[in-house]
Amino acid sequence: MADSICFINQKGGCGKSSTCFHLAGAFAAAGLRVLLIDADPQGSTSQGLLGSIAVEQLTIEQTTAGLFDEQNFFGDLSKIIRTTRFDGISLAPANQHLSRFNSPCPEQTGMDQFAMRDFIAQQVEADIVLIDCPPNLYRCSWNSMVAADYVVIPVPPEDFGTQGLRAVHQAVLNARKLNPDLRRLGHVVTRSDKRLLIHRSYEAKLRDTYADLVFSTVIPEASAFKVATACRKPVEYYQPSSVAASLTRALAREILDRISMKNKLRHVA
Ligand SMILES: Nc1ncnc2c1ncn2[C@@H]1O[C@H](COP(=O)(O)OP(=O)(O)OP(=O)(O)O)[C@@H](O)[C@H]1O
Ligand SMILES: [Mg+2]
Repeated sequence: MADSICFINQKGGCGKSSTCFHLAGAFAAAGLRVLLIDADPQGSTSQGLLGSIAVEQLTIEQTTAGLFDEQNFFGDLSKIIRTTRFDGISLAPANQHLSRFNSPCPEQTGMDQFAMRDFIAQQVEADIVLIDCPPNLYRCSWNSMVAADYVVIPVPPEDFGTQGLRAVHQAVLNARKLNPDLRRLGHVVTRSDKRLLIHRSYEAKLRDTYADLVFSTVIPEASAFKVATACRKPVEYYQPSSVAASLTRALAREILDRISMKNKLRHVA
């Protein structure tokens, strides 16, 4: 069974998609078979790999919306997964079709709460599953938490970035009622600018509050991430010698350490 991690924070723009996308590159380059699941109707991760026009044109059955659509009940869910031009990275894309399924009261959706979990259980080809969630705690995030083994919480070291954390932690506790093994793997400080005193002090405060539940690796605000995304490549493939790529590898290693998957790692720079 693959280890699955969902990236959750209801704060928009905190780096959930970016972290997922670039980590996928680091894991794949290290020899893992990665399945990226886009659980966000914005489809950022999907666009990062396929381009926005191609993503817009995908039908419900070709996207994660197919998991929730009653009309696709007997559909072939394997149609949702596609290979990408990067060895070892496959993608379950999302687009605008997912919006109408992302309802705000997910606990009332009965057995549909397990749709993502059942889908992931069928993915025997993957070593690791990364689920990119939207900036809210509605049905897509809920389904992801019910499905996943772990939660990673990307947090920019600023006031607005840290404000919603209690709600995220509460959502994890709630999801444990259906998925008792769900664990918080940690908070990852994202988009950090160490030159800013406010960023340094918020990071210190996070570490004071959550101690080991904060990854040592900090993801900086760096243009290499943006440019790599614009070139539709995880930074590992765009500029492997960059600091951005090296820190993404460090985060990938920490994640694997935390989930004791080191044995699955064939080579790490
Ligand atoms: N470490 C970084 N350095 C530079 N730019 C970044 C970094 N992380 C994210 N960005 C950029 O910031 C923007 C928002 O990032 P991203 O889409 O990953 O956030 P998100 O949390 O997924 O947003 P949403 O909540 O809307 O899903 C994107 O344009 C992305 O390229
Ligand atoms: Mg996103």
